[in-house]
Amino acid sequence: MKKSNRPVIIVGNWKMYKTEQEAIAFIQKLIPKIQENSTKIYLAVPFTLIKPAAEAAKNSALVIGAQNMHDASQGAFTGEIAGSMLRDAGAKFVILGHSERRFYFNETNDFINRKVKKALEVGLQPLLCIGESKEERKELKTEAVLKTQLEACLDGVAKEQAGNLMIAYEPIWAVGTAEPALPTMAQETEAFIRKSLGELFGKKNAETVPLLYGGSLTPENAHEYLEQPDIDGLLVGGASLSVEKFSQIATIE
Ligand code: PGA
Repeated sequence: MKKSNRPVIIVGNWKMYKTEQEAIAFIQKLIPKIQENSTKIYLAVPFTLIKPAAEAAKNSALVIGAQNMHDASQGAFTGEIAGSMLRDAGAKFVILGHSERRFYFNETNDFINRKVKKALEVGLQPLLCIGESKEERKELKTEAVLKTQLEACLDGVAKEQAGNLMIAYEPIWAVGTAEPALPTMAQETEAFIRKSLGELFGKKNAETVPLLYGGSLTPENAHEYLEQPDIDGLLVGGASLSVEKFSQIATIE
């Protein structure tokens, strides 16, 4: 399936779904299905599920992570969670800057930038999400918007750290809408993202960053994205809640 030497990464984003019992049953069913797989399979779960999910996934190919964190090490931030706490619970990566966080919780590029740097500092792999709105795409502003997001969210990240990042391109209009970007459009945009990363980190370092596509992925359409040269993986929301659908996407050859 893949021609680059970057690994293929499939990430599930459970958002605010599943109890502990449901999560464990899901993971126990998923693990045997992905055992023989060379693809890296990640699952971003709600905070309360990190520890039980990490325990259920122990000694398997499945990597557990979180969906958000605060940028401070600790402090009086009622209701928030620190990166070191996520690590402590067993998370290995963290989604940052998801469009739902930007939209519902007013997260800015500046705040996301501080989170990215803190995640790297505590040894969590950041999965930075970027994407344009429908209006921005229509007004031909997509590249400008993505470039601003990349420059602002990655400001101060050392070029040697590039390989520890993952970036997901998720057009806002494609998230949870059953209206995915055309694979060719996604490829064009990811190529632009890789070029912009080259300007930030140098071409060689930019080649090491896994670029994911996300937005209305299904077992039926997922392979079309993985066939694109600049798409190294997928960020799957709704379809990651079903073990059948998620394992089908995770085992595409
Ligand atoms: P979706 O969500 O697959 O349900 O469109 C993607 C995401 O939010 O990461």
